[in-house]
Amino acid sequence: MNDEPLLRVDRLSVAYRLGTGMLGGRRKVAAVQDVSFEIPKGATFGLVGESGSGKSTTGRAILRLLQPSGGRIVFDGRDVTAFGRRTPLSYRRDVQVVFQDPLSSLNPKQTVRTTIGQTIRRHRKLGGRELRREVDETLDMVGLSSFHGDRLPHELSGGQRQRVAIARAVAVRPKLIVCDEPVSALDVSTQGQVINLLTDLQRTLGVSYLFIAHDLDVVRHVSTTIGVMYLGRLVETGPADEVCTAPVHPYTRMLLDSALVPDPVEQAERRARRRALGRGGEPPSPLAPPPGCAFHTRCRWASEVCGAEVPQMTSTGPARRAACHHAGDPAMTG
Ligand SMILES: Nc1ncnc2c1ncn2[C@@H]1O[C@H](COP(=O)(O)OP(=O)(O)O)[C@@H](O)[C@H]1O
Ligand SMILES: [Mg+2]
Repeated sequence: MNDEPLLRVDRLSVAYRLGTGMLGGRRKVAAVQDVSFEIPKGATFGLVGESGSGKSTTGRAILRLLQPSGGRIVFDGRDVTAFGRRTPLSYRRDVQVVFQDPLSSLNPKQTVRTTIGQTIRRHRKLGGRELRREVDETLDMVGLSSFHGDRLPHELSGGQRQRVAIARAVAVRPKLIVCDEPVSALDVSTQGQVINLLTDLQRTLGVSYLFIAHDLDVVRHVSTTIGVMYLGRLVETGPADEVCTAPVHPYTRMLLDSALVPDPVEQAERRARRRALGRGGEPPSPLAPPPGCAFHTRCRWASEVCGAEVPQMTSTGPARRAACHHAGDPAMTG
């Protein structure tokens, strides 16, 4: 039983219903389709992909902020998708979230102390001096001081605000934190500090992360395992370093090549590689996804089968999977 992952997402699908159009008929966006992955205890699963690929929707389904249209989510041996309308209090404690923008996720009229204190009191009967001490300890865990507790969110820097959001999440000792683009709004040096904080907290608390970001360079540094999403589907998963050094899916390669590098010469080389790799361009709309492999419109190895059949995730090596009709073709690894 100890080998049970903390979280198992099994063929998750989520659709958004769009307003009824003039022509009648309810239109739906298939935002997430057939997504499966696991997060072991104390590990980080990094979910990466361009904007609109379904990362946040996956996170929101796990947080039970929206109802899946298919598949199962199993947390700590419990079927989350079978919960009723009300989410059990224990699940609301065990699974916390840190969003990209703390200014909109923190109450602007509440001091940091009140915000963190409220979360603690939702799950533990603490008050007065005991609560104060607990909040101070939590602030200390995220590298803030007791006096930060008396500040309002707008009186803090972006990095400090994100530390407050992290403090609120860890205050109740969750088992999993969904971090949805937690550093995307921060400048590069602050990004590094917040990432180090998250890794330190993982070491001391043993918490697991679902770490969502559009930037593969950020994800590879925090993740044990990576999942690459494209237009609602996982296209590649595997150990973080392997996926980044030996990507199998052409889309993963494109993401790697489009990551910004400080060296202008290497940047130019990557740009050239990217041009050679595919037809580039913007991702297609999830409202009208291309048939077959959704990436085939941008892939230079696309053949007839790619436009006709959706490739399934298949094993491409130990602990590695990819959904590409041409995975392993010698022509593609050149
Ligand atoms: N509330 C919503 N209503 C309708 N469509 C939505 C809604 N939220 C997201 N979408 C659509 O679902 C798809 C996935 O979005 P999202 O999960 O936010 O992607 P990501 O986090 O990877 O940028 C996108 O096409 C997006 O436009
Ligand atoms: Mg998002």
